[in-house]
Amino acid sequence: MKLGILGSGKGSNFAAILEAIRNGELHAAVALAVSDVPGSGILRLAEEAGVPTLILHEPRYRTRLSPRVEEQLVDALRAAGVDLVVLAGYMRIVKSPLLDAFPRRIINIHPSLLPSFRGISAWEQALAAGVATAGCTVHYVDAEIDTGEILAQAEVPVLPGDTAESLHARIQAEEHRLYPEVIRRLAMETRP
Ligand code: GAR
Repeated sequence: MKLGILGSGKGSNFAAILEAIRNGELHAAVALAVSDVPGSGILRLAEEAGVPTLILHEPRYRTRLSPRVEEQLVDALRAAGVDLVVLAGYMRIVKSPLLDAFPRRIINIHPSLLPSFRGISAWEQALAAGVATAGCTVHYVDAEIDTGEILAQAEVPVLPGDTAESLHARIQAEEHRLYPEVIRRLAMETRP
């Protein structure tokens, strides 16, 4: 299975996916790494790993890409032979050009137990709400924000004295375990 990774940030989930491929747990290849943020950690990781990269820098829009640029993204993913689009800290909303090109083949990881705490800084929302349990969710991407069909979830406790940073770190440790596992499952299911 060929993966196309999209990310805006430091890329720790991407690193976990690369590690699972390297140690033989995940039979997949990363065909393309795409970021909307020049200089982001995820691009550096891709370069170090010899993964082709694409930068789609569109500062005019903050929450999405324009249809024209998203079409470029679709072309690049297709040209790379991508089977599954993996959002790993990609902070823009995916719109119809991409959704239509990869139906049920775009997944996302979100740092909450959806449907609770959709949107940004979900761990801060969980902390502010005073919940005892937080976690992360892997889900298919649809036209809404963080509403697609859930593929898997992992829980972590919220501990006394937790800060936003400590809670996010605990959630991320689970993300790094869960995301490669779900991709592995999807790769097995789609194997000819
Ligand atoms: C992850 O915690 C991911 O769940 C979150 O961004 C972080 C990216 O970290 N995604 C979202 O909030 C999407 N709504 P990373 O760049 O280290 O993988």
